[in-house]
Amino acid sequence: MDKSIQMVLESFPRLREIADPGLREKVCRAWLAAWQASGYAHLEDASQWEPAREALGISNVAHTNGVVECALALAEALRQSQALDVDRDVLIAAAVLHDLDKIRLFHAADGRPTELGRRIGHVLTGVHLALAADLPVAVAHAIAAHSPTYSTVAPQTPEAVILKHADKVFTDLWILQRGRDVDFSI
Ligand SMILES: [Fe+2]
Ligand SMILES: [Fe+2]
Repeated sequence: MDKSIQMVLESFPRLREIADPGLREKVCRAWLAAWQASGYAHLEDASQWEPAREALGISNVAHTNGVVECALALAEALRQSQALDVDRDVLIAAAVLHDLDKIRLFHAADGRPTELGRRIGHVLTGVHLALAADLPVAVAHAIAAHSPTYSTVAPQTPEAVILKHADKVFTDLWILQRGRDVDFSI
C-alpha cells in the first residue's frame, strides 16, 4: 500500500485548518516520514501505547485527534475568558504531532520496543523527528513539554501549556472511564 500525504490528511482532519500552507506541509511530511520508516501498514493500526494496547483500547490516531479537539476547545475557552492569544497554527501542529514518535518506538508486528524506543524513548524521539522535518521550535517545544512521564522541560508558551493539559485530561478520563491501570513505561 502506498503511504501518502493524502492519507495523513484523512487521518488528522484538523490539519486542513492550519492556515500557513508551509507549516501544514511540514506537519504532513513529518507524519509521512515517520510512518514510512515504521512497520505499520495503516496509521490507525498503532496503539496509543503498545505495551498497554489491551488496557487502553484506543489507537494513536484516535487519541491524537481527541487531544487536538481538547486543545482547541481549551484555547477557545481561554480566549474568551482571559483574552489569551494562542497561535492556532502552532497549537494544531503540535497537537497533531505530539505522539508522532510512537510509531517509531514499537515494532508493528508484536508491539515490542524498537531500539529507538529503548535507547531514546518517547518525546525525545518526537522532538528529533519534528526538528528534522524543519518544524519551528515553538512546535518542537510543545512536543518536548507535553508528557508527564517523559518530558524534561516545562511548558513555556500558551500552546505548550494547553497541549500538556489537553493530553492529560483526555488520557486521564479515557483511563478512568475504563477503570484500568495503565503503565506508560517502556
Ligand atoms: Fe505523549
Ligand atoms: Fe498523547
